[in-house]
Amino acid sequence: MSNETKQKFDGYANQYDEWFMVNDKLFTSELKLFQKVLGDISGKRLLSVGCGSGLFESYIDCSGIEGIEPSEDMGKIAEKRGVNIIKYGVIEDVELPENTYDIIYFNGSSSYMEDLAPVYEKSLKALKENGKLILLDVPKESAFGFMYLLGKSLNTYDHEYLRGAMPALPYPLALASSGVWHTTEEKINILKNLGIQKFSYYQTLVKNPLYTNEEVEEVVEGYQSGGYVAIIAEK
Ligand SMILES: C[S@@+](CC[C@H](N)C(=O)[O-])C[C@H]1O[C@@H](n2cnc3c(N)ncnc32)[C@H](O)[C@@H]1O
Repeated sequence: MSNETKQKFDGYANQYDEWFMVNDKLFTSELKLFQKVLGDISGKRLLSVGCGSGLFESYIDCSGIEGIEPSEDMGKIAEKRGVNIIKYGVIEDVELPENTYDIIYFNGSSSYMEDLAPVYEKSLKALKENGKLILLDVPKESAFGFMYLLGKSLNTYDHEYLRGAMPALPYPLALASSGVWHTTEEKINILKNLGIQKFSYYQTLVKNPLYTNEEVEEVVEGYQSGGYVAIIAEK
């Protein structure tokens, strides 16, 4: 594992969780999407790729959830929350057993990976027939995506271009800057090229970032408006 990948989230575990705790309505909106797309997981075997601190998993029964996480800072918290970490490392370096999982999901982690095709291919092989690969991310083309890319290119959110337009506590700049923001269609096309034909899409955070934490949003179908979007791909 490269040090760079490890460092992306090492040292940010508390800041990451605190950001969601302060942005509690944004978090609840994302959690609703997460729960909606996972569906009923009882009796199922799941793998969370880049499970982080297991924050989302701590709101559901995670007894059947395995995790892969490169940052020890984050993963240790996930373990305390009940996620079974099978590997401290990057998904690129992990050998997964074939036809094993009912659901493999990437909750925000594709946004820290350069080359998605080999990683999704590996995940699809590890799914049982009719298993689901679920990808949840901030789309590059969303208002959040633009905000993170602008922050990254200016190296600050505290800039006249952004004055009056920023939420009170934006996502930590270092984490926005280390992101590799992908569009939703980029990911869909990768999956289509890997032979996937059955898709569904759900989204949340359709309000502009300035207002996102004012009230909890309901999940809506589709992927063209949300600041947090889920792709469900069926094997
Ligand atoms: C935005 S955080 C999401 C964490 C968690 N899934 C959540 O929703 O709270 C992205 C996570 O992906 C992990 N990550 C980054 N690159 C990765 C890779 N190549 N393989 C596996 N995980 C990775 C990071 O360490 C980080 O914990």
